[in-house]
Amino acid sequence: MCGIIGFNGSVNAAPFLIDGLKKLEYRGYDSAGIAVYNGNKTVTEKRKGRISNLASAVKRRDDMCGNLGIGHTRWATHGEANDSNAHPHKSGKFTLVHNGIIENHTLLKEKYLPLCTFTSETDTETVVHLINRHYSDNCLEAIARTAKLLEGSFALAIICEDEPETIFCVKKSSPLLIGIGNEATVASDISAISCKAEKLYRMDDGEIAAVTKTQAVFYDFDLNIKEKATSQFSAERSESEKNGYEHYMLKEIFEQPEAVRKTVEAYLGNKENTLPLINKPERIFIVACGSAYHAGLVGRICIEKLTKIPVTVETASEFRYSDPLTNASTPVIVISQSGETADSLAAIRKAKENGATTFGIVNVPESSIALESDYVMYTKAGTEIAVATTKAYSAQLAALYALAIHFAQIWGTEDNTVLNNLKDALGKLHIKIREALGCEEQMREIAQQLATVQNAYFIGRGIGYALAAEASLKLKEISYIHCEAYAAGELKHGTISLIEQGTKVFAVCSPNGLEAKMQSNIDEVSARGAQVIAITDSHKTKADITVHTVSATHPLFCASTQIVPLQLLAYHTAKFRGCDIDKPRNLAKSVTVE
Ligand code: G6P
Repeated sequence: MCGIIGFNGSVNAAPFLIDGLKKLEYRGYDSAGIAVYNGNKTVTEKRKGRISNLASAVKRRDDMCGNLGIGHTRWATHGEANDSNAHPHKSGKFTLVHNGIIENHTLLKEKYLPLCTFTSETDTETVVHLINRHYSDNCLEAIARTAKLLEGSFALAIICEDEPETIFCVKKSSPLLIGIGNEATVASDISAISCKAEKLYRMDDGEIAAVTKTQAVFYDFDLNIKEKATSQFSAERSESEKNGYEHYMLKEIFEQPEAVRKTVEAYLGNKENTLPLINKPERIFIVACGSAYHAGLVGRICIEKLTKIPVTVETASEFRYSDPLTNASTPVIVISQSGETADSLAAIRKAKENGATTFGIVNVPESSIALESDYVMYTKAGTEIAVATTKAYSAQLAALYALAIHFAQIWGTEDNTVLNNLKDALGKLHIKIREALGCEEQMREIAQQLATVQNAYFIGRGIGYALAAEASLKLKEISYIHCEAYAAGELKHGTISLIEQGTKVFAVCSPNGLEAKMQSNIDEVSARGAQVIAITDSHKTKADITVHTVSATHPLFCASTQIVPLQLLAYHTAKFRGCDIDKPRNLAKSVTVE
C-alpha cells in the first residue's frame, strides 16, 4: 500500500507534500516522511505516526526550503512502523520513496550489496543503494539498470542531488500519476495531483519518467523514449469534507441512499454503460476481498435466484493462486471499491489468462481494475474516505442487483413481469434505505452495552448470513471487539461451546422463508445464556432485544436495509470505546500489496 507524492515547481515543496500526504493517508498511516532539495542538498524528515506528527516536525525545521521534493505515507510491510523504516530512504546523492513490495530484495542485497550498511529493515532501502551503486554520472541509466533487477511491485519517486530539476518515476504494478501544468506533481492517486495540473499522465507498467517542472519524458526500461498520451481527469478532484459529521464513516453511512440511487439510475435508467450482452454461461465466478467479498455473497444469492446459474464466490487471495475452473464461457466478476486491491487485480489477470470475460464492479474511475476489466460497472458511491466501507458496499449491492436482473433478462431465465417488478422495486430502494437510517438512536443504546464486551457473535441464514459476515467485519475492524459470523445452523457444531451467560449474539433474520429456523437458533443460544439481539423486519421474533428493520422494496434486496443498523452498531460501539473510527489500527483503505 503506501502513498507517494512528488512536487517540482517554483514554490516551497514541503507544504504541498504534507498536504498531498494527508490526501493519501487512506493508503497507510503508520509513519510518514518527506525529502526536499534545498538548493544545496536533500534534507529529510521522517516520523512514526500520523501525518500531523510529521507536519509539526517539518515546521520546526528551517532548512527544508526548496522547490523539489518527494514524500511518503506508509503501511508497514518490511520492518515495524518507526522513524528509521519510514520513507524516504537515502543512499549517496539519491533519495527515494516506494509503494509496493520488492520480492527479491534479500537476493539483491546478498548479490550486489554485501558490504553496504543498511539503516532500516525495509525492502525499499535495497533499491536506493542499488541505484547509487549503478551510478557514475547518469541518473536515468542507474535507475533503469536497477529497475530491471527488481521483482515485485513498485511505484518509485526518486530525486538526485546531481539533477535537482528532475523527479524520476518508475512504475510496475503499483499506480503512479503525473500532473503537469506550470508545476509538476506525481502521486499515487488523482486526489493528490495539483489542481493546477493541465495534463495528466497515468504511468504504465515498465515505464520510467523524467519529470521536470513543465514536462514529463517517458522511457521503457531500456531507455527508449515512449510516446505517451495524456489521460482524462475524472470529475472527483475536489477534497471531501465531513460536512458537520463527527466522522467520515457516519457521513458515508448517511450518504448510502444517494449512492444506491445513483448506482441504480446509471444501470436501470440505461443512462450510461449499457450492460453487456454475453452468452448464457455454465457458471459464474465472483471474486473480491473484505466487504466487497461480502457484497459478492449477496450477489451470488440474487444471481442464482434469477438466472439458476451456479455462482462461485471466492476471496481474491485464494482465487489467484488456485487453478480456477474458468474458461471463455465462465464470466468472472471482480468487485472492488478502490479498483486497486492487489489480490483482486491479480484475480482479473488470472481470469483473463484463462480466457474468461471479466467484469469489474468498481467505485474509483479509471483505477487499475476498471482499466483491465473487459466490462466495467462503476458504482456511484463517490469518494469514500473512512477505511471501513459502508456506502461503497451498499453501491456494490445495488450494482449486483442490477446485474442479476440484466442477466435474467438477456438469458430469458425469469419472467418479464417478475423482472419488471424487481426493476421497479430497485428504483425505489434508496427511499427504504433512507428510512432505515432512523434506527440510529436504538443502535446507539445497544452499542453502549456492546462496548464493554470482549466477544460477540453474528448469525444468519442466506442473505442474513452474508450480512452477518459483513456486520462482524465492520464491528471488529473499528471497535477491536473480537467477533465472528456463523451460518446460524452451524453454531451448534462447535462454537456454541463459547456461549456463556450474557454473551451477545446478533441474529440477522432476513425475510427469506427461514425465519422459523432462525427462531430455533435464537432459542438454542438463549437457552445457554446468550443475550440475543434480533435484526428483523418481522414482528414475530422472540429475542432479548429486537431491532425492527425497515422492509426493503423486495425481499431479495433486504441486505440493503438490514445492513444499516449493523453499520450504525459498529460505528457507535467504536465511538463508545474511544477508537479511531476513520483510521483503525493496522488497516488501510486501499490494499495494494498482497
Ligand atoms: C480493505 C478495506 C475494506 C475493503 C477491502 C477490499 O481491507 O479496509 O473495507 O472491503 O480492502 O477493498 P476494495 O477496494 O477492493 O473493495
